[in-house]
Amino acid sequence: MSAPESHPFCSSSLIGTGSYVPERIMTNADLEKIVDTTDEWITSRTGIKERRIAADNETTSDMATAAARNAMEMAGVDASEIDLIIVATVTQDMFFPSTACFVQQKLGASNAVAFDMNAACSGFLFALQTARHFLNTGNRRCALVIGAEKLSSLVNWKDRNTCVLFGDGAGAVVLRRNEEEDAPGRVLSTIMGCDGNLTGILKVPGGASAEPITQENVDEQVKSIYMEGKEVFRHAVTRMKEACEQALERAGLKADDVTKVIAHQANQRIISAIVDRLGVPAERTFVNLQKYGNTSAASIPLALDEANRAGVIKRGDILLLVAFGAGLTWASSVVRW
Ligand code: UT7
Repeated sequence: MSAPESHPFCSSSLIGTGSYVPERIMTNADLEKIVDTTDEWITSRTGIKERRIAADNETTSDMATAAARNAMEMAGVDASEIDLIIVATVTQDMFFPSTACFVQQKLGASNAVAFDMNAACSGFLFALQTARHFLNTGNRRCALVIGAEKLSSLVNWKDRNTCVLFGDGAGAVVLRRNEEEDAPGRVLSTIMGCDGNLTGILKVPGGASAEPITQENVDEQVKSIYMEGKEVFRHAVTRMKEACEQALERAGLKADDVTKVIAHQANQRIISAIVDRLGVPAERTFVNLQKYGNTSAASIPLALDEANRAGVIKRGDILLLVAFGAGLTWASSVVRW
């Protein structure tokens, strides 16, 4: 077993969480009116009962900014103290500038360097690890790490295979450099992985350089989500379980030590399969996908904030965060709360 991961100079801690979801609720009953589906099918196959849909004029950076403000308020951190903003998203406001630059402007965080990260549904944990490197090496002191998505802008509302799964929202954390060994919220380890051989099974194929929108394909929904659900499911369970084991080993911990698993909120059956294989009791999972569906990069920070504010997680708890998404990408992180 390898030693706990630490940097010779410093480490970093989560000092605040925040989230935001749009007001508009779309229930399974609402979807029954749009596509050939049933509440029974959606609930039994995924666990999802409803999802949030952003207003037409509500952007990913609007949601990201709202979540960030909540996290900063909890952390007691002023915009001027933030020197790094990373926004994990696949639904950026525009191709460029980055969504993170819009967030920087909206927060007035003028001392921050800001950029986006795309690792699909694993994006938040990729961003967390990236921020951690900036902090642990002494380059930056205080980071906002945000996952935010307006997936409703990528959904084909005629495709029942995918449109029932996704929702909009944002979650954020404030991560601060902290030299104290036992500081609360300390990130103990992070694992990341990719398999570019499987880019084809989960993608938005069009609308960018590979297949720009043209007069000819404008009606073909090329700029919407395509997923081979069963294949993605299979890989998700295997990769997420492995990533959990690796992150725990790197932190010098065992599955038994885990207080709460906060997994990417895509499918209740995936979460159940992972914890079952890890040997973690089902009651040690935190699940909110019934309310929000799959919010991609937003799902983990949204669940983390909800668990935190509800008092479900407490100081000293060992949290196991784990994500999986297009790429394929996967990541996991152990945090001592
Ligand atoms: O966030 C990134 C990671 N994403 C994921 O982790 C998602 C992974 N995949 C999944 O969660 C599941 O594969 C789904 C929920 C997407 C699908 O569940 P499934 O048990 O794998 O169903 P399936 O795709 O095998 O479809 C079974 C049947 C099909 O009908 P036939 O061919 O058996 O007659 C589908 O056409 O269910 C049908 N179906 C639906 N029926 C009613 C597919 N979507 C729907 C629907 N309503 N919305």
